[in-house]
Amino acid sequence: NAQTNFDLVLFGATGDLAMRKLLPCLYQAHAAGLLHPEGRILGVSRSELSTEAFLQKVESDSKIHVKTHYTDELWQSFIKRIRYLTVDATKAETFKALGEAVAARPNTDNVVVYLSTAPKFFTPICENLAAIGLNSDKVRVVLEKPLGTDLQSSQEINAAVGAFYKEEQIYRIDHYLGKEALQNLLALRFANIMFEPLWNKKYIKSVQLTIAEQLGVEERGEFYDITGALRDMVQNHLMQMLCMTAMEAPASLDADAVRDEKLKVIKSLKPLTSADVDADVVRGQYAAGEKDGQALNAYLNEYQVPAGSRTETYVAIKAEINNERWNGVPFYLRTGKRMAGKVAEIVLNFRDLSSHIFEGSAAAPNRLVIELQPTESIRLYTQVKTPGAGNHVEVAPLVLDMGKAIEGRRAEAYERLLLDVINGKLALFNRRDELEAAWEWVMPIMENWAQAEQPPHEYAANSWGPKAAEELLARNGDAWHEAQ
Ligand code: BG6
Repeated sequence: NAQTNFDLVLFGATGDLAMRKLLPCLYQAHAAGLLHPEGRILGVSRSELSTEAFLQKVESDSKIHVKTHYTDELWQSFIKRIRYLTVDATKAETFKALGEAVAARPNTDNVVVYLSTAPKFFTPICENLAAIGLNSDKVRVVLEKPLGTDLQSSQEINAAVGAFYKEEQIYRIDHYLGKEALQNLLALRFANIMFEPLWNKKYIKSVQLTIAEQLGVEERGEFYDITGALRDMVQNHLMQMLCMTAMEAPASLDADAVRDEKLKVIKSLKPLTSADVDADVVRGQYAAGEKDGQALNAYLNEYQVPAGSRTETYVAIKAEINNERWNGVPFYLRTGKRMAGKVAEIVLNFRDLSSHIFEGSAAAPNRLVIELQPTESIRLYTQVKTPGAGNHVEVAPLVLDMGKAIEGRRAEAYERLLLDVINGKLALFNRRDELEAAWEWVMPIMENWAQAEQPPHEYAANSWGPKAAEELLARNGDAWHEAQ
């Protein structure tokens, strides 16, 4: 909707996320003609910079992340939207110029304030924004993850932000919800008749959700070491994948209809006792390894990782959902850094037939693989007769490659989400109760680990994770579906 005239105030404008994702995605939206011609980006941070100096930084640190649709002309017109202001989150007097800059354009439809900062700044920023009147109904505030470090801190942040903004003004980002392939999962399930009748405990034996990354922690050791994979990936991204996979059909695609159903899934997760964590959760940390003849560091030797750290770079969990649809079906969640492949996928393993008239059909029951990345595809592994006189079947996939099947520009997750905020669409953002329920569910894991004598299981960098995670599935007669 090119008609929404916005001011986007970007806190943390000099930070990594702004440079790598937010500004390049705004450029893409600009290049596609999706931004109102007068819409502005007001970059703010503590650094004392002029707009000119900030633009130089954007030129050197952000432009390189524009992967498609780049032209000099479009870039030049894009950066005309950008101004920079020095604002210190904790100093009220530094907000004055920001207030004036926004007030100078009273005809805007809305003001989006994006908080791409450490969560400890959320409260003072909101307080100082409210003091200059930037909490009127036309203001929307975007909260970047991590939203706290546990249930309590997340409740505190939500309460503090909630003191200044109404729930419908708060956009809590989980960029996985911006991924086309995850949204398509709802279409697959609820716009087709074929899948939903089989989408339950009667036909599905187990479900696997994987986000595997090949990168290590890179330069983010300091942040990562106090965060770990459970907070970085499980509480949010994997949980959202689980919700979209397991939820009931919402009454409509309205924000609250969808979020109500997601919340029910999280609330139906079987709570984990400490004994469950011992049995059903595997934490791992990558050891040294090798890829294409090159040595890879162990996590403990990464930049800014303290000696002896027990921070997990890998988590696998066997979860259960206590409801009529899913009782007894294990949901295996796993995520890791420095894995042997980069993939995000959802795998549904169907039950075996109760009898077999073809030879070989017992070997591999049907399997549906929904790949979010690197490619967006759906593969249904089916039994197919091998040519010739025999009665033998083999497994072959029916493949739907979304990029080839459906035309259209596929926006990056952050672009879609930024446009949704500008246009006031809340469906792809987390509601407070949903997020807190997710924290509540992971808390016993964090508490168990804080007490645990056993350090994380090691796995070699460039492998598929610790052996203990294979054993977790083997106990149930299951095995991980590796990327193929
Ligand atoms: C972020 C995490 O939220 O998601 C990162 O903080 C992780 O550690 C990233 O690398 C993964 O996102 P994507 O879209 O590349 O799968």
